[in-house]
Amino acid sequence: MSPDRPAAVVVLAAGEGTRMRSAIPKVLHRVGGRTLVHHAVSAAAELEPDHLVVVVGHSRDQVVAHLAEVAPKAVTAVQAQQLGTGHAVQCALADLPDVPDLGGTIVVTYGDVPLLTGDVLSGLLDTHAEQGNAVTMLTAHLGDPSGYGRVLRGPHDEVTAVVEQKDATAEQLAVREVNSGVYAFDTTALRDGLDRLDTDNSQGELYLTDVVAHAVGAGRRVGAVAVTDTWAVEGVNDRVQLAAMHRELNRRTVEEWMRAGVAVVDPASTWVDVDVRLEPDVVLEPNTLLRGSTHVATGATVGPNCLLVDTRVGPGAEILNTTSYGAEVGPDATVGPYTYLRPGTRLGKGAKAGGFVELKQADVGDGAKVPHLTYVGDATIGEGANIGAGTIFANYDGVAKHHTEVGAHSFVGSDSVLVAPVEIGPGAYVAAGSTVTSAVSPGELGVARGKQRNIAGWVARRRAGTPAAAAAERAAAAMQQDDERSHG
Ligand code: UD1
Ligand code: CA
Repeated sequence: MSPDRPAAVVVLAAGEGTRMRSAIPKVLHRVGGRTLVHHAVSAAAELEPDHLVVVVGHSRDQVVAHLAEVAPKAVTAVQAQQLGTGHAVQCALADLPDVPDLGGTIVVTYGDVPLLTGDVLSGLLDTHAEQGNAVTMLTAHLGDPSGYGRVLRGPHDEVTAVVEQKDATAEQLAVREVNSGVYAFDTTALRDGLDRLDTDNSQGELYLTDVVAHAVGAGRRVGAVAVTDTWAVEGVNDRVQLAAMHRELNRRTVEEWMRAGVAVVDPASTWVDVDVRLEPDVVLEPNTLLRGSTHVATGATVGPNCLLVDTRVGPGAEILNTTSYGAEVGPDATVGPYTYLRPGTRLGKGAKAGGFVELKQADVGDGAKVPHLTYVGDATIGEGANIGAGTIFANYDGVAKHHTEVGAHSFVGSDSVLVAPVEIGPGAYVAAGSTVTSAVSPGELGVARGKQRNIAGWVARRRAGTPAAAAAERAAAAMQQDDERSHG
């Protein structure tokens, strides 16, 4: 991305995050479908550094395992005790003996700043190179700077130091320019500064920020780039901030999709994970959540009230009031309302899964219809087949799951149970109310139900005096009158 690739990016993620009040480590909380640390390493990776190092400490086993999954190129350095941000960077460099002592740039960022982008980082690197700085800090001007380190400047507006909130004088506290905690360092200046750190401050920590004053003291240039977008440098400390960050990330994601041609009826109730892909002329109706690797093709309508996870939706499909995990919906297919698609489900072109239908590992052919109140598990349904209301594919015998095959253009009558493994041939019919346990061959009608018998006069004998008996009596009398009239 930047012509000057940094020697390393160091992402600090060893802190505990106590204010989250969570058993989950802070950097493993999610916004937009990715963990905070995944966002951080993704932005870092855009700089294409020679080394991408994440400093881990609290709950490090979980964080390391997660990073191995989402960022296999990142290496981790352990900071067993959190002795300060300067100490954290020392731990990172101790694990990087091959980073040259001369030249090269090291970028430091935090694992809990999810809206920081590769663009902001490469802007920082550009300024760092252009100005020939030893340190370039990313800063922000905040209305309420409390909690942050303040950027101190000299008579010529040059950066002289960073002072922490807890160490600042009243005059320094009035400074509104804060240190974001994101920096580009000349490697030598960083190593020199880290070697000189001490704990002579109110928190007894090794402050990375003191590297700034050391560089200035050594006569080296320190610069600052102030961000205009303060979200980009904001960290997450508690769940209130996590929710605000998620909303802002989502607002940006949804806005980008609208600019790319997606119709979003109600952006505030539409939640789209960062890895979701949408095509122009997709319509997202209110209260729609698109998660994971979901992909919606052009002209498809999703919502209102849908949750689609890792789901592929073909062009022109319509999905209403549906929950879907890992399904594939074909072109012009219709799904919903109140439909549950489970992993391994595939609907062909123009297929239909209607109201109160659940499908799991079901391959529904082109133009096939499962319109009402049905469970289809572990089945292949051929093209143009019709599955009547209330059909159950009984796939589980209590021990194992079995497969059912329904051939093309076959017709399964309402309220049937197809007991797997079983096969309904192409062009076969199943009579309504059948419990099918053996194959129905192509072109046959399978009937598997009790034969109907009617017992005359039963209500009059066994339910005498009830409204039913009275109604039956009136009906019989009316029939007799009709009979007499037609014969009279
Ligand atoms: C730090 C800066 C402060 C800046 C602020 C921005 C220092 C001394 N101060 O504040 O100037 O305004 O960030 O948010 O650097 N971490 C470790 N190991 C540690 C300590 C921290 O990995 O020993 C990590 C934390 O997990 C977190 C980040 O570093 O991701 C910042 O730590 P935090 O304690 O929030 O920052 P402060 O020191 O308060
Ligand atoms: Ca912080």
